[in-house]
Amino acid sequence: MKFFALPLLLVGFLAAGQSNAAAGSSHLLCYYDGSSFAREGLSKLTLSELEPALQFCTHLVYGYAGINPSSNKLVSTNEKLDLDLGSSLFRSVTGLKKKYPALKVLLGVGFDKDVAEEDSSKYLTLLESSNARIPFINSAHSLVKTYGFDGLDLGWQFPKNKPKKVHSGIGSFWKGFKKIFTGDHIVDEKAEEHKEEFTALVRELRNAFRPDGYLLGVSVLPNVNSSLFYDVPALINNLDFVNLHAYDFQTPVRNPEVADYPNPIYELNERNPEFNINYQVQYWLNNHAPAAKINVGIPTFGRVWKLTKDSGLTGLPPVADADNVGPAGLQTQTAGFYSWPEVCAKLPNQANQHLKGADGPLRKVGDPTKRFGSYAYRSADDKGENGLWVGYEDPDTAAIKAAFVKSRGLGGVALVDLSFDDFRGSCTGGEKYPILRAIKFGL
Ligand SMILES: *[C@@H]1O[C@H](CO)[C@@H](O)[C@H](O)[C@H]1NC(C)=O
Repeated sequence: MKFFALPLLLVGFLAAGQSNAAAGSSHLLCYYDGSSFAREGLSKLTLSELEPALQFCTHLVYGYAGINPSSNKLVSTNEKLDLDLGSSLFRSVTGLKKKYPALKVLLGVGFDKDVAEEDSSKYLTLLESSNARIPFINSAHSLVKTYGFDGLDLGWQFPKNKPKKVHSGIGSFWKGFKKIFTGDHIVDEKAEEHKEEFTALVRELRNAFRPDGYLLGVSVLPNVNSSLFYDVPALINNLDFVNLHAYDFQTPVRNPEVADYPNPIYELNERNPEFNINYQVQYWLNNHAPAAKINVGIPTFGRVWKLTKDSGLTGLPPVADADNVGPAGLQTQTAGFYSWPEVCAKLPNQANQHLKGADGPLRKVGDPTKRFGSYAYRSADDKGENGLWVGYEDPDTAAIKAAFVKSRGLGGVALVDLSFDDFRGSCTGGEKYPILRAIKFGL
C-alpha cells in the first residue's frame, strides 16, 4: 500500500492542476444586441453600462449583422447605429479591446434578429448558389477587417422544428402529449442539400479568414434540429467553436396552451427526449465534436404564459389550459417575455408583499433536483384573471448550468444576452450582472 501512496498522490495533484487550468481557460461568450442601445427607458443598455460585464467575458458577440437578399452581402441590421461615420457602434464596440486587451469581439450573423420582410428564406437561397456565397464571404471578410472584429459567429437561419399542436382539454391532455412524438412534419424538403451547402460555406469562409487568423464559429439556434442541418464531422475542423442555443424548447408563442420549463438541462418524462441541453450536447459529442469546442447557451430571460381557471392551482409543469402569452413587462414591453430584472421584481419581496391582483407577488418554485430550472406562478383568481406562469433562468440555475459545462469538460458558456441580465443591479442590492457573475464563478 505504502508503495502506491506517493504516485497516487502525485496523480491526484496533477489532475487537480489540470482541472484548474481547464477552468481558467473556459470560454464565456457574452452577447450584446446593439439594438438594446436604441431601446427607450430602463431597458436601454449603453456602452458604459456594458463595461462592468467585460471583466467576466472572454468574447463579446456583437449583434446583429444580416443578409441583404438582393446583393447577398453581409450588412448591419441596424445601419444607422452601427455604421454611421463618427458615431459608429461597430467601431466603439471593437474599440473596447483597447481597454480589455484579452477580449475577443465577434460579429454575430443572423440569429432570430435578422428579420426578413419580403424573403423569409434568404439564408437558404444564399446557400443554394455558389455564386451567391461569394459576395457573402467577401463582404463578411471586409466587415470584419474594416471594423476590427476578431471573427464571426454564424447564427444561420435554418427552418425550425414545428411545434406540435397540443389540445389540452381535460382527459385528452396526455393523449395530446403522445402526438408530440408521432407528428412527422417535414421541416425542410431539401435539408440534405442545405446541410452540404452549409458545410461548403463554412469551408470557404475558413479559407478566406485563414490568412488573417480570424475566428469562425457557428450558433445552432433554438429549435433547429442539428441532425438535419449540421454535418458535424465535416464542419467541426473548420470551426473554432459551436454555441448550442439550447433554450426556448417550450415558449408561449410555440406552445400557447401548455406552460412548461423552457430550458431544462435533462429530459423530462412525457416530453420530447430531444428538448433539453443534455441531448443537444450529447448529439455533438457523439458526432465527434471535441468537448472543448462546445459552448452551452444560457438565456437571461423568462418566458411568460397566461393561466386560466382550468390551469389548476399547483403550477406544476406541464400546466394545461394556458392561454397564450402573458402580459408584457414594464421595461422590455414584449408580450410573453420578461428580462431577469423583470422576473426578479415579481418574486416575493418587501415592495410587493401586500399587493394584490396583477401587482401581487408570484409564488417561486426553485429546483432542488438541479435538472430542470425555476418557475414562478400565480393561479387565476375567481374571475379567471391574473393567472401567470414564468419559466426562467436566475443566478442559481445559471450556476448549475455552468457546473454542468465544467463537469462535462465543455468549452464554456454563451450568455444570451447582457441586456436582459440585471445590468443595473436593481434586484440584487446593486450587484450588476448577477447571472453573468454566477456563470463566471461556476465555470
Ligand atoms: C431531428 O431530425 C431527425 C432526423 O434526422 C429526426 O429523427 C428527429 O425526430 C428530429 N427531431 C425533432 C425534435 O424533430
